[in-house]
Amino acid sequence: MTIGDPIEHSKSPQMHNAALAALQLDGDYVYVAGHINVAEIEQFIIGVRAMKLHFISCTIPHKIAVMQYLDEIDETAKKIGAVNSIFNDNGKLKGSNTDWLGVVKPIETRTSLEGKKVALIGAGGAARGAAYGVTSRGAILSIYNRTVEKAEELTKQFGGQAFSLKNLEQIKDADIIINTTSIGMQPNTDETPIPKEYLSNKHIVLDAVYTPAETRLLKEAAEQGATVIQGTEMFVEQAAAQFKLYTGHDAPIEAMKNALI
Ligand code: ATR
Repeated sequence: MTIGDPIEHSKSPQMHNAALAALQLDGDYVYVAGHINVAEIEQFIIGVRAMKLHFISCTIPHKIAVMQYLDEIDETAKKIGAVNSIFNDNGKLKGSNTDWLGVVKPIETRTSLEGKKVALIGAGGAARGAAYGVTSRGAILSIYNRTVEKAEELTKQFGGQAFSLKNLEQIKDADIIINTTSIGMQPNTDETPIPKEYLSNKHIVLDAVYTPAETRLLKEAAEQGATVIQGTEMFVEQAAAQFKLYTGHDAPIEAMKNALI
């Protein structure tokens, strides 16, 4: 099950159910979405225990609020400070986080992160998983955020340097650029976090925004010759890691991608 507020536009059920069907596990599991608001989260967890629900995926705004009701939280989720996955292990609710894999895996199919200069735009919830992921693989981190204090908080924990968006021109020198802000998301598809002239063919550019799949940032990055990674790929990879958690099987990535299109 996936929970969020809002949740109506979530593509997770169609993606997970397609994956379950592809491995003929659809007789064992069904994946549904639930619109749960923050005030209901404690009651929801009581319900999870009573109904013995097998797995919960948490999206905004539950990734932090739900943590206090769980029996265990693994080291990675503790470091990131958020859970996106709750696995019911015979009544014990275990929290973990696969969001960072959504960032790291697509990059690592293209290049190694070790020693690479990563510029992270944004310092909110999505940035935390990205900061954890790239620094755990040995990248050198710079975080750019409108509110520079929030970027500084992240660099205190994960290392690297914090900058305001006024210094964004420095990203010309980065190897990998990751946008974790919502700039460019529908309906504001004409916006972009990075001026086109700062982008070049030496960059790999990831955009966590996946509605639309091709954001203005990615379109302009491709026009400048950069390697681009769509948010849909990040979304599939974090979900694939969840699929492995709750079924024990490697996820059928192609089936998941196809279900999203
Ligand atoms: P999420 O959990 O999706 O990361 P969030 O925690 O609300 O969401 O974080 C949103 C991020 O996008 C923040 O870094 C925010 O900048 P501030 O910390 O200054 O608020 C950034 N952001 C959102 N809209 C923005 C905009 N129009 N211009 C610049 N930064 C923006």
